[in-house]
Amino acid sequence: MHDRTAMKPAPMGWGVSGSSREAQLRRRFPTIEDLRKAAERRVPSLGYETVAGGAGQNLAVKRNADALDAITMVPRIGEDRGPVSTDVELFGRHYAAPIGVAPMGLQSVFWPGAERLLARAAQRARIPYTAGTVSGVALEELAAIAPDVTWFQLYRLAKDDHKVGFDLVRRAQDAGIHVLVVTVDTPGRAKRPGELRNGLTLPFRPTFRTIRQAAVSPGWLSALMRTGQPSFPCLAPYCGPNASKADVAWYAQREVSGAITFEEMKRYRDLWKGPMVIKGVMHPADAEKAVAIGLDGIQVSNHGGRQLEAAPAVIDVLPAIAEAVGNKATILIDGGIRSGLDVVRTIALGAKAALAGRAFLYGVGAIGSDGADYVTDMLVEEIGVAMRQLGAPNFAALRDFTIPHPGAVQF
Ligand SMILES: Cc1cc2nc3c(=O)[nH]c(=O)nc-3n(C[C@H](O)[C@H](O)[C@H](O)COP(=O)(O)O)c2cc1C
Repeated sequence: MHDRTAMKPAPMGWGVSGSSREAQLRRRFPTIEDLRKAAERRVPSLGYETVAGGAGQNLAVKRNADALDAITMVPRIGEDRGPVSTDVELFGRHYAAPIGVAPMGLQSVFWPGAERLLARAAQRARIPYTAGTVSGVALEELAAIAPDVTWFQLYRLAKDDHKVGFDLVRRAQDAGIHVLVVTVDTPGRAKRPGELRNGLTLPFRPTFRTIRQAAVSPGWLSALMRTGQPSFPCLAPYCGPNASKADVAWYAQREVSGAITFEEMKRYRDLWKGPMVIKGVMHPADAEKAVAIGLDGIQVSNHGGRQLEAAPAVIDVLPAIAEAVGNKATILIDGGIRSGLDVVRTIALGAKAALAGRAFLYGVGAIGSDGADYVTDMLVEEIGVAMRQLGAPNFAALRDFTIPHPGAVQF
């Protein structure tokens, strides 16, 4: 198994001489953008575009990142207290940094078996990892890989009065999962040209195009040979004893539908004993409704720009949502996080922690099996660097900084 200490980043940018693997990686991939570019070359376009793209012309994907880039922060001069602790408490548990892995279905299309790599990296780094209803690895296996940090994300499975949805929640509880995340921003299927252009089907259909792409991506192909065709194992038990992967994919397409309503969420609230988060909130009034039915966390998210192309950037709705419910619920955010500085920006504007999706996968696509560890270490290191540059002694102090935010949405 890969030795995590060997990946520990050197404290400063110039500490990258030498020929260790770590030093080489730091020279080749100093930023997430470097990893993205390499991943684009190494991963078949079917997988790359499925993950990198969003709804329509990717405008909301771009808007999330551009709006974060636009946030400036005025540094303060004070005593130098040395390195800043990145520890954070979320829902009564301690994590090493306010950054976590967002749920991503279809990530096995990008890199077969990626879920296991991301879960392992999160457990090593002690940051939250979110397994999903449509993950390519069963929630029980992911909870065993990352027992201290796994959360579970639920989609709406309403048939037979939520029989399957309730069963998934029970399974998550039995697997020792700490936090339930209910996604509400998928009222219907979005039009994603990247998936259409590449003719995405599950299981993969061996067209000339897919075979040609796989042939020039040997790392991806050998990962596929090891793990087999992507599937949705969380849902397999509900598809009958002899269901093929194609049957399970068809079941997922048919039965995972619509956004869980507040009335339905209340029933899940009554069932789930631990902390519960609503994911996909973009309006303060919706955040208030969620708090009123007893939810513990609000995850500000526009699904990484994959649902409503006209959605505002997540950072631009964050301050109003934090203002409305920040003293009653834990505010999380995801969408467009590409650096530790981005994480610090979100905390300064009202979040307790941020989650990222694509950034972790780009690490795997560029580097392979230890790519998620590399990204984790990079983001944690960058959070500390940004805090010290700002002169912020801790995360709470970030709220006192001057942060111009002309893009903030006024409700
Ligand atoms: C390939 C892919 C699959 C996703 N699948 C899910 C999912 O199954 N459930 C969910 O709640 N969100 C899903 N999301 C949204 C992410 O949880 C998260 O909101 C988004 O990726 C954050 O944006 P970022 O990728 O720019 O960090 C998915 C995102 C991507 C890129």
